[in-house]
Amino acid sequence: MSDEVKKGLLGIVVDETQVSKVMPEINSLTYRGYAVQDLCEMCRFEEAAYLILNGDLPNTIQLRKFEKEERFNRDLSKNLNDIIKHMPKKSHPMDVARTAVSVMGLEDKETNNNSPEANMRKAMRIFAKTPTALAAFYRIRKGKKIIKPKKNLTFAENFFYMCFGKVPNKEIVKAFDVSLILYAEHSFNVSTFTARTITSSLSDIHGAITGAIASLKGPLHGGANEEVMHMMNKIKKPENALKWINNALDKKEVVMGFGHRVYKSGDSRVPTMREYFKKVAKIKKDKKFNKIYDIVEKVMIERKNIHPNVDYPTGPTYHLMGFDTDFFTPIFVTSRITGWSAHIMEQHAANKLIRPLSKYSGPKHRKVMLLNQR
Ligand code: COA
Repeated sequence: MSDEVKKGLLGIVVDETQVSKVMPEINSLTYRGYAVQDLCEMCRFEEAAYLILNGDLPNTIQLRKFEKEERFNRDLSKNLNDIIKHMPKKSHPMDVARTAVSVMGLEDKETNNNSPEANMRKAMRIFAKTPTALAAFYRIRKGKKIIKPKKNLTFAENFFYMCFGKVPNKEIVKAFDVSLILYAEHSFNVSTFTARTITSSLSDIHGAITGAIASLKGPLHGGANEEVMHMMNKIKKPENALKWINNALDKKEVVMGFGHRVYKSGDSRVPTMREYFKKVAKIKKDKKFNKIYDIVEKVMIERKNIHPNVDYPTGPTYHLMGFDTDFFTPIFVTSRITGWSAHIMEQHAANKLIRPLSKYSGPKHRKVMLLNQR
């Protein structure tokens, strides 16, 4: 057995999946065989969510049933509502999401039932309730009253409604919907692998998603969309952008929202998200972030040949939509729950305990001495 260390599991294929395929050589991404760009153009987020969870696009009756199940599961228990009300106001909303899903696991009657049918039902409940939990915290920490979910609104519309009390125009909702489709699934990324690893011990879906949320929080993964906004706020105005980015590169800083472990010549999701960012910028009459976006991107490609990843356009898009910066990654969570759940069910269906090896590099074997002899 070779003891060569593959740090970061770089280039290692650990299992098969039927959920999505990332093709860096042609900058392409498919969910269950459908190109993500086509899904963004032709489907609503709920259709893509159904596809990821069930393996195929829904017909009208299947979609109606799926939407009904999601909409009727949106309400939180009084207990969870109270817990959210008592959370420290300064908590990061990713920690709120993580705790909320964990509490849902305490309350769910089927927590320990890992059958495919129970897992699908639990996935739907987590999918439906997590946005409600996040929006409740969004309101509470601003000293505002919680807004209950509305059953006649789509997933995207309802999230805006629960956060802001109103639904924006169709173009803004479409841009948000597109971001949810693009964030829904991306094969064996770190949070999905975390979820699959937890599942591989035959643990439950609430635990696996709780772990996945913790993993997504990190700035090298989902947390990058928040970091992009912090960077743009530091740059402040387009006139500063060129100097700022050149200075950062001179200092060998990591520029958030750029680079990817798999895509080395561009992220398949960026052209679509970039287009919707530009649309939102136009609607919101933004010139500042639009210009900063272009300048930083140009320098990163010219000087480093490093391309933006999907977190680069989503950051300023969510900002222009009015969301607080620390809510960007939680929005990612509300969508990625579908991808995680599909992988958790796939792992359960053909499980093998995930248990890699390590190469020991600590002290050589030594004898324990009595205290007075040390
Ligand atoms: N800014 C500046 N330099 C970067 C960079 C970035 N965002 N991403 C990669 N590089 C550089 C590295 O410094 C390294 O340079 P070196 O060879 O001179 O040491 C080289 O590109 C290769 O990068 P590496 O860290 O080995 O790539 P990786 O596959 O391990 O990392 C990421 C991928 C995503 C972790 C990395 O690109 C990154 O930290 N990006 C910023 C965070 C981010 O946006 N994450 C969201 C991903 S969807």
